[in-house]
Amino acid sequence: MKIAVFNGSPKLQNTAALVDAFCEGAKEAGHEVDVYHVGKMKIAGCLGCEYCHTQGNGNCVQKDDLEKILPAYKEADMVVFASPIYYFTMTAQMEAAIQRVYCIGKPAKATKAALLLSSGSPGVYDSAIAQFKGYMAYSGIEPVGIITANGDENKSEEKLNEVRDFAKSL
Ligand SMILES: Cc1cc2nc3c(=O)[nH]c(=O)nc-3n(C[C@H](O)[C@H](O)[C@H](O)COP(=O)(O)O)c2cc1C
Repeated sequence: MKIAVFNGSPKLQNTAALVDAFCEGAKEAGHEVDVYHVGKMKIAGCLGCEYCHTQGNGNCVQKDDLEKILPAYKEADMVVFASPIYYFTMTAQMEAAIQRVYCIGKPAKATKAALLLSSGSPGVYDSAIAQFKGYMAYSGIEPVGIITANGDENKSEEKLNEVRDFAKSL
């Protein structure tokens, strides 16, 4: 499978550790994995101007780093969203990346999706998980895994092994 992992963290710390473990497991299982650091990219929010659905032929009127990730949304067999929790949801950078995909409609080929979340506290995931599930249902993509890490679980060998094993099982 061709797997695209979108990391919404602006830092390369706790979420990146989950992403690295996922990549290790997925590669071990023979999958092709590409990571896109959307948290470090410049992707503005959707303007809702409908240029993409009128004159734009699927292209966004805003020219920014969205262009770096759209090919992955179009070609991936599986999409993975990884993000720290910022105020009970994914980062603004990740939200912008997700919402700007409006220009192409839905990830074209993906049939599977997973969510990796990192946070300081436990019990802060409801909004992010509801959004992920809703977005995947809308896109006709099966959510196959949700893994969260809070506090000391972040970067713990136990949690990273859980992520590796999940990726290996794909
Ligand atoms: C702006 C901001 C908002 C945050 N909001 C929450 C929150 O609502 N709940 C929580 O448990 N942790 C919150 N955190 C902590 C991060 O989710 C946590 O430190 C996470 O492990 C960071 O991942 P990273 O190292 O990949 O950036 C917040 C951190 C920042 C910087």
